[in-house]
Amino acid sequence: MKAGKTIFLCQHCGYQAPKWMGKCPDCGQWNSLVEERAPAGPAFSPGRSFGTSPSKPVPMDTVEMTRASRMATGIQEFDRVLGGGLVPGSLILIGGDPGIGKSTLMLQVLHRLASHNHKVLYVSGEESIQQIKLRNNRLGAESKGLWVVSETGLESIRAMADEMAPDVMVVDSVQTIFTPDLTSAPGSVSQVREATMHLMFLAKRTGIPIFLVGHVTKDGAIAGPRLLEHMVDTVLYFEGGQNNVFRVLRAVKNRFGSTNEIGVFEMRENGLCEVLNPSSVFLSERPCLVPGSVVTASIEGSRPILLEIQGLVARSTFGTPRRTVLGVDYNRVSLLVAIMEKKLGFQLANEDIFVNVAGGVKVDEPAVDLGIVSVIASSFLDKPVKGRTVVLGEIGLTGEVRTISRVEQRVGEAAKMGFTRCLLPGNNLKHLKGRDAMALVGVQTVSELVDLLF
Ligand code: TYD
Ligand code: MG
Repeated sequence: MKAGKTIFLCQHCGYQAPKWMGKCPDCGQWNSLVEERAPAGPAFSPGRSFGTSPSKPVPMDTVEMTRASRMATGIQEFDRVLGGGLVPGSLILIGGDPGIGKSTLMLQVLHRLASHNHKVLYVSGEESIQQIKLRNNRLGAESKGLWVVSETGLESIRAMADEMAPDVMVVDSVQTIFTPDLTSAPGSVSQVREATMHLMFLAKRTGIPIFLVGHVTKDGAIAGPRLLEHMVDTVLYFEGGQNNVFRVLRAVKNRFGSTNEIGVFEMRENGLCEVLNPSSVFLSERPCLVPGSVVTASIEGSRPILLEIQGLVARSTFGTPRRTVLGVDYNRVSLLVAIMEKKLGFQLANEDIFVNVAGGVKVDEPAVDLGIVSVIASSFLDKPVKGRTVVLGEIGLTGEVRTISRVEQRVGEAAKMGFTRCLLPGNNLKHLKGRDAMALVGVQTVSELVDLLF
């Protein structure tokens, strides 16, 4: 491509076109193509490697681990989501809505590391050093090894990292990082992609783990390119309602660990606090013995968490009844409602149905099916579920209750939280050891469930 020529780049997916178009043919986004100067040559030559000289293949068994393999931050909830600590040379993207607490979390993580005698660098492209200091005072943390800088130039950041050689580095946020090699504005696809690419090389070459903070757009994608997610090693999302004090850190992609782990935090006056027992938090405001509420256990990564599911069934005033679902899959709920109509004979066609998982949590396991059916039945019949009961199980299309995984752990967590009765798939019961404090009741079909619930 000749220098000086311009191309049109989709700001959503990174698609390139020689002419402007109203709709991106790749991702279908409208009005997302922006004119940018084409790079003079290929951005990355084919021979480029993480080091300075070209790479050579080596036998796997001769590869030596350089540093201690993982660096724990000391914040348990954070370490678990990372898969047990920071891997040297990894690039970790932290996405989340503005104001959710990404900068706060990063600063707290760095403080912890600095207090363990690590040298850490916080690069902010959004706040001045004075503003970072203000936040710092609020967190009430003081550490010697924490260095801060307010900088947006990609070249300066790379030079800084080479000169200072910190143990860990944070770049907040990737949308503010800028390289004059490209003509487009900071935050555009090419700038964000370029910055990420160079920071990736930096991390791999120097072995410094780098955190990249990224803002999320209205529709939930990390602003600009989804491509970013493919480039980095780990993608973490920090989520939770603006009005909700609880924040959930979730791994969406992790080259060095499981993606099912979640970490729960609470936003307080003086920063984020770990919530080590999420079950008690999610159940803390549960109304007892009222229709439309039931407790179920979901497995998040390696640990079970008890969740309250709420349901409300109300006579619809419109022709088409509403189905509003928060925290569980909409289609799953529609399917379960259809099973209830067919197998239980419930007349739900004229009823609005609302289902919600308390605490702003999202679950996508089929093991909560039984909980969803229970709350809808409970609200429809206006009967509360019997006290101290937990329900577990997946429901099939013929109304059968199907086996779920890791029942032992779920039942254990329920017993720990003071529940005394558990409705679970009949087949699971066979392989389960009896417990003194917990009555285990096997359920084969949904119609059996309704008899046992109330
Ligand atoms: P911030 O980390 O700036 O969010 P992000 O970097 O994701 O945009 O978090 C800002 C919010 O957190 C703000 O609404 C105030 C709140 N907050 C507290 O409640 N307590 C605190 O100690 C701090 C530092 C922030
Ligand atoms: Mg911030």
